[in-house]
Amino acid sequence: MVLSNYTQAAIDVAKKAGDYILTRERGKFTVEEKISSYDYVTDVDTSSEALIKSSLHALFPDHDFAGEESGMDEDEMKHRLTHMSENDYCWVVDPLDGTINFIHGLGCYAVSIALVHHNEIISGAIYIPTLDEMFCAQKGAGVWHNGQPIKVSKCNQLKNALVSFGVPATNMKYRHEMANKFPALAMDSFNIRILGSAAASIAYIASGKLDAYVELGHHPWDVAAGMLMVEEAGGQLSNHKGEALTLADPYMVASNGALHSSILESIKMPK
Ligand code: IPD
Repeated sequence: MVLSNYTQAAIDVAKKAGDYILTRERGKFTVEEKISSYDYVTDVDTSSEALIKSSLHALFPDHDFAGEESGMDEDEMKHRLTHMSENDYCWVVDPLDGTINFIHGLGCYAVSIALVHHNEIISGAIYIPTLDEMFCAQKGAGVWHNGQPIKVSKCNQLKNALVSFGVPATNMKYRHEMANKFPALAMDSFNIRILGSAAASIAYIASGKLDAYVELGHHPWDVAAGMLMVEEAGGQLSNHKGEALTLADPYMVASNGALHSSILESIKMPK
């Protein structure tokens, strides 16, 4: 496994942030309401982001940084990430994906770090500190879990598929839409999982532990690293219409490829 400096940096910094987050578990943090009373941020999110930002800046001072807690307007961020010039590099970071799990003392949360160059995700790392699981991917080179190459699952029937589902926090229109899709998918698949961390869900698709993931209302920082992982693991990504997925799309279907069309069919509304 020959990794670029970028991928190695994503791994090292994700590990450093994850180790830091673990030291702050179990009530040693402050919680504030974010955009609505359905969404919260802790001081651990903000200090994890500060740590990641300064570590990456020390290594790559010319690169841009787009973090969940940076306060950047999301539409502007999406525009920037899809209209980059040849010399532009931008780190897209979720310093603690699964904040609500973290607040509740549930262990499913992750640090997600991706590098986007000229509109393309070229390196990514997702670290789940509570399980010491490190996923990393490099464009054209592969994807690994704790140093071992990984692939998507071989499941080819929706009735046998374990499907992860994302329920958006703040956008009630999106939440309603996802709630309407739940019954069909719950009946058509083997079963549903809602992990509460988009990054972890997508990393588990790349490693074949889950077969597909459906979300509406995720953000670029939740999914950038995972998108590269699914591609490198032989899976498929699209929006709900089956069109190529970009970092600006609010709708995401990620799968092992074999199940993609059945998932799209199942979530079609009305049924
Ligand atoms: C959220 C989680 C959640 C997903 C949301 C994300 P955060 O990220 O990944 O599972 O459904 O769309 O925004 O706020 O915990 O970093």
